[in-house]
Amino acid sequence: MDRDQRGVPRREFLKAAVAIGGASALSACLDREEVSVPTGTDDPSSLPARQHAWNAHAARDDAGNVLPPRHHVLLHFDYDGDPEADRATVESALRSLERAYEWSNDGLLFTLGYTPAYFDALGGPPAGVDLPRPEALSDLEDPTLDEPAAILHLASDHAQVVLEAGEAMKGERDTANDESVDAALTDAFSFVERRTGFVGTGLPADNQDVDGVPDSEPVDEDSPLYMGFKSDFEGSQATEDRVTIQSGPFAGGTTQHVSHIDLDLRQWYEQDSREQREAKMFCPVHADEDRIEGTGENLGDDPQLDDSPPAEQTAREDGIVGHGQKLKSVREDGRPIILRRDFDSTDGGRAGVHFLALQRDISDFVTTRDAMNAEDISSETAVGRRTNNGIRQYLSVTNRGNYLLPPRDLRALPTPEGGDA
Ligand code: HEM
Repeated sequence: MDRDQRGVPRREFLKAAVAIGGASALSACLDREEVSVPTGTDDPSSLPARQHAWNAHAARDDAGNVLPPRHHVLLHFDYDGDPEADRATVESALRSLERAYEWSNDGLLFTLGYTPAYFDALGGPPAGVDLPRPEALSDLEDPTLDEPAAILHLASDHAQVVLEAGEAMKGERDTANDESVDAALTDAFSFVERRTGFVGTGLPADNQDVDGVPDSEPVDEDSPLYMGFKSDFEGSQATEDRVTIQSGPFAGGTTQHVSHIDLDLRQWYEQDSREQREAKMFCPVHADEDRIEGTGENLGDDPQLDDSPPAEQTAREDGIVGHGQKLKSVREDGRPIILRRDFDSTDGGRAGVHFLALQRDISDFVTTRDAMNAEDISSETAVGRRTNNGIRQYLSVTNRGNYLLPPRDLRALPTPEGGDA
C-alpha cells in the first residue's frame, strides 16, 4: 500500500479529501499530490458536440473496456433567474473548465443536466424528450425525489481536479489548474448540495471503514466496486450512440437518471459464499462452472451471459436468478439500452452507490429497472421479491432524480423549446 510519511494510505486520503470537500481539503490535496494535469482548450469547436461523449477520451483497460474516471462529484443547483440574462455567464463558467482541463480522464470530464422541474418553471417539458419527474420504481422503495434545477457531474482520475473544479463552479476560487476562472455557476444558480464518490481498482477496499461493510474488511483490494466484481464490460454497456436523442431540438443530448442506493455488504459478504455471490451477480451457471476469477477480469470485454439460461428457468429449477442474467432480457441488438456510469460513495458515512445511467428516453431506464425487479418471476417461482433475486436484497434506494443533458451548444440554461428564445 502506498503510504506517505504520515501513514495515511494515499488512495484513502484522496477519496476522503473529495468527500470532505472545501478549500482546506483542496489545499491538503495540492500540498500532498504533485500531479501535473493537462490543460484544456480555448477552441470549443475542438470539443465533442455531445456533453456525454466521454468514451473516446477515456482510459481503457487491457481488454478494451472503458475505465471510468476514478473520482466523482455531483453538485446540485437551484435556479430562479432569467435564462436570457444569465446564459452567457453559465457558458463562460463552463468554458473556464474546458480551458483549465483537458477533456479526458486525466483532465476533467463533465456534464450539466436539467430536471423536469427546471423546464416546468420555464413553461413546459423539453420538446421531443422523454423526461418525466422522478418516482419510486417499485413499491419496495420510498426514495427522496431529487428535484433541484440542475446537476453538474464532475469526473477525473485526479481527486484534486474534481475538488478544484467544484470549488471554482461554486465561486470559491478564481483559478483552476492555474488558468483564470471567468465565471462561476453560482453567478447564475444557487448551490444546494454536493455528493461524491469513486470507482476503480483499490478505492472501495481503501474505503471500507464505513457503515454497511462488515468489520472483517472483505472488499477485494483489486475490486473497482464495493460488491467485489467489475461491471463495466464493453459488451454490457449501451453505446453513446444508442443513448443519444436522435431528433428534435435536443438531438445530440441524452437523459440521465441518478439514484442513490445504500448497500448492505454485511449480508453480501457474511451470509453469502463466493459461489452465491457469483450466481446472484452474474448467473447460476457462471457459479456452477466456476467461470469468474477474482473481480471478473478473466471475462474480458463481455460478461459472457449469451449462453446463460433464461432467468425463468433457473428461478424454477434452482430458486435463484442472477442480476446480469435478468437484465439480458432487455438487451437490443445484443447490447443493453442504458449506459452505466455509476460509482461508489461514502456519503452519509455509509457504503453506497450513486447509480448514474444515461439512456435516450427515461423509459429505457424504467424498462431496465423493471427487468431487474423481476416481479413476474418472483410471483411465479420460489425466488423472492428480494431474496435470491439477483442483488436486490442488498440494495435500498434512497434517492432518485431525472435530468436532460442537452447537447453542448444548448447546455447553458436551455428553454423548453430548445432555443435561446
Ligand atoms: C447498485 C449496485 C449495482 C451493482 C454493484 C451492479 C453490478 C453489476 C455488475 C457487476 C454487472 C456486470 C455483470 C453482470 O452482467 O452480471 C452489472 C451489469 C448490469 N447492470 Fe448492474 N449493478 C448494480 C445496480 C444496477 C441497477 C440499479 C441497474 C439498472 C436498473 C443495473 C443495470 C445493469 C445492466 C443493464 C447491466 C448489463 C447487463 C447485460 O450485460 O445485459 N445495475 N451490474
